[in-house]
Amino acid sequence: MPFDRTIKIAPSILAADFADFGAECAAVEAQGADWIHVDVMDGHFVPNITFGPATCAAIRPHIKGVMDVHLMIAPVDPYIDAFAQAGADVLTAHVEAGPHIHRTLQAIRGAGMKAGVALNPGTPASAVAEVLDMVDLICVMTVNPGFGGQKFIDMTAKISALRDMIGDRPVHIEIDGGVDPTTAPLVAKAGADVLVAGSAVFRGGSVSDPAPYGDNIRAIRAAAEGVWT
Ligand code: DX5
Ligand code: ZN
Repeated sequence: MPFDRTIKIAPSILAADFADFGAECAAVEAQGADWIHVDVMDGHFVPNITFGPATCAAIRPHIKGVMDVHLMIAPVDPYIDAFAQAGADVLTAHVEAGPHIHRTLQAIRGAGMKAGVALNPGTPASAVAEVLDMVDLICVMTVNPGFGGQKFIDMTAKISALRDMIGDRPVHIEIDGGVDPTTAPLVAKAGADVLVAGSAVFRGGSVSDPAPYGDNIRAIRAAAEGVWT
């Protein structure tokens, strides 16, 4: 997983057909997705339940590229090895998920994965100031986690602050929630490089008619990259 700051589109399978994850992952990759974003929810840290490591392991052979697993669970530490075994490339834990994010991030890297830390909309950039050298990715939530299809919350000031804090470190800034061709330029301009999008990628398409996935991915990418032209 070489590091760069080019725009990467990461479809969230929270908006895919839950009965057909393998084919959905293959379809969005064939249509231009850079990473696959996998949302794990426990009905405790967030008010919704999705699936756990066994489902991630089942999906893994259907993903050629990066499997980016976003844990919306608490506690995290008892499950880190299970997600490593499931084949996660990036494992992201929320800074709000417990008092020992430092230990959690050490354990994620120790298990051989890239470590991500996520911040809810109500959490300031300063919450990750002491772990910048322990992470490969910072995920800025632009919705309150738990559900797809929510309205984008403007976090551009926080994204810019994180971009300054990161400096030359090889740390991705990922944006999660309400990303579409309208909001993508705002977050790209502020310094984000990984754009998660669920409903804005999967809308209008299906495994049997995947071309809209490609149209949607290209529209988000063009809007984000347009910032730099
Ligand atoms: C929210 C999830 C997101 C979500 C994004 O809790 O972490 O990844 O699927 O969905 P959209 O793009 O529809 O806001
Ligand atoms: Zn997510």
